[in-house]
Amino acid sequence: MRDAKAIRQAAEIIRKGGIVAFPTETVYGLGADGYNPLAVARIFEVKGRPSFDPLIVHIAHPAHLEKLVKETPSSVKRLTEKLWPGPLTVVLLKKENIPDIVTAGLPSIAVRMPDHPIALSLIKESSCPIAAPSANPFGYLSPTTAEHVREQLGDQVDLILDGGPCAIGVESTIISFLDGKPRLLRPGGVSLEEVESVIGKVETGPIKDRPSAPGMLPRHYAPRTPVVLGGNEKNPELYKSRNVGFLAFQEPNRDLKFHSVEVLSRKGDMREAAANLFSALRRLDALNLDLILAEPIPEVGLGRAIMDRLRRASHFLDSSPLTGENRGEGEWL
Ligand code: TXA
Ligand code: MG
Repeated sequence: MRDAKAIRQAAEIIRKGGIVAFPTETVYGLGADGYNPLAVARIFEVKGRPSFDPLIVHIAHPAHLEKLVKETPSSVKRLTEKLWPGPLTVVLLKKENIPDIVTAGLPSIAVRMPDHPIALSLIKESSCPIAAPSANPFGYLSPTTAEHVREQLGDQVDLILDGGPCAIGVESTIISFLDGKPRLLRPGGVSLEEVESVIGKVETGPIKDRPSAPGMLPRHYAPRTPVVLGGNEKNPELYKSRNVGFLAFQEPNRDLKFHSVEVLSRKGDMREAAANLFSALRRLDALNLDLILAEPIPEVGLGRAIMDRLRRASHFLDSSPLTGENRGEGEWL
């Protein structure tokens, strides 16, 4: 559903406490009235999302940020002026009236203004900020088409607004402004370089002892098929008896002996690669492969977000999908 009537209908559902899947420029979101704790609880239920994982609240005008947060530092003002609407989420101290379930009990809140006409109209017509995670079962690949949402959550959501494929294809960049210095919590659709060109140096290291954002859990954004990240495509012997799919960044320059190959961008264009990432992984995931081998991507611009998702998709807690050996903690490739 993509017309004005559908948006009005969706807004009415939101106002009455229902949940609606809607397109944004990054991925599809599953939204509810951000001031209605019962409606937000349904999102957690439908996604199978742990209650310690807070949601992003979506607004339709930069000025609405003030209604949600205690204070807006000048660096945030500069950043949102430049990059909103767009794939940028800011984390700040929240106002008391935001229900705890939205922020998972944290004193902070994540807010963004999406750059998508359907998302913006929906928020305006609903007359409330919309709390929305990506519209996928917890831990699985984010949806970049309405069809992806339908396949996975179809009968559990009240309505799906169809805006076609998402232009950016990876989630928003999350920057926290809680400890004085801005800190990158999740690389995403706006590059770190672009953010730093507006507000200067952004911290990027992990915060000690805990994931800085629960979406930063080591295994996340993962297909069902095991994913291996790294250059073993040079050693096809390893995969002889296996049904292996290859996720290539750009056009591979030789005959690859894989069961199936997905190319993210023939020309090696980072934006195109990001936009295709989750769909390509889904297509490979549907083939019942033993393994998906993913080609590493240069970590500049959007490449940082793509590699972040691939690392998390390829993180195995128990054993190596190549050898069956238990690999214990840490990286193993
Ligand atoms: O592009 C996007 O950001 C998409 C679209 C729908 O807007 N949304 C999205 O939501 O990716 P979700 O729930 O899949 O990821 C939200 C991330 C989670 O990793 C969560 O931990 C983090 O935002 N987050 C939310 N509130 C936070 C807070 N107060 N402090 C730190 N991280 C927070
Ligand atoms: Mg998500």
